[in-house]
Amino acid sequence: MRLGILISGRGSNFEAISNAITQGKLDAEIAIVISNRAGAGGLEIARERGIPLRVIPSQGIDREQYDKLLIEELRTHRVELVCLAGFMRLLSASFVHAFPNRVLNIHPSLLPAFPGLDAQRQALDYGVKIAGCTVHFVDEFLDAGPILLQSAVPVTDKDSIETLSARILAQEHATYWRAVQAVADGRVSISGRKIAISEPE
Ligand code: GRF
Repeated sequence: MRLGILISGRGSNFEAISNAITQGKLDAEIAIVISNRAGAGGLEIARERGIPLRVIPSQGIDREQYDKLLIEELRTHRVELVCLAGFMRLLSASFVHAFPNRVLNIHPSLLPAFPGLDAQRQALDYGVKIAGCTVHFVDEFLDAGPILLQSAVPVTDKDSIETLSARILAQEHATYWRAVQAVADGRVSISGRKIAISEPE
């Protein structure tokens, strides 16, 4: 399965997916990494690994127009599954319709709790005892599409934003590629909001 990975920053989730491929755990190929920010750290990782990359700056372009550019680039690289990995933009309905049930996102909370920015801070401030991450299909709403996989982590009294974020991030890295593999294997069935994933053969 040909992946298109969209990033805006550090790129550690992209790196974890790339590692899973290199280690032979994930049967997929990264066709293109696209960043909307020229300074995204993830671009350096792509460069070092010889993975095709492209910067498409988003500043000053309206959403529909920007998403058209994205779709064009993804189609040029024959992308079959789009993975948002720290991509800090909402996608338009036209984008979502261009890749029906083929856009994934990872979010650092157990959705539907704490959507949006600073999810780890929201969780700490709320006082939850269990936090985690969610891989979900993307629709045109923020952190809202059907849920594929979630992983939980405990929150301790001593946690800071940094320690909790690091614990969640480790789970993100262990979880995202599994969701990608389930889609790539055709093991995912969707009925409304509910997703069933069958065991690998
Ligand atoms: C991750 O916490 C991810 O869940 C969220 O943005 C962060 C991206 O981190 N959507 P990285 O760029 O993958 O390191």
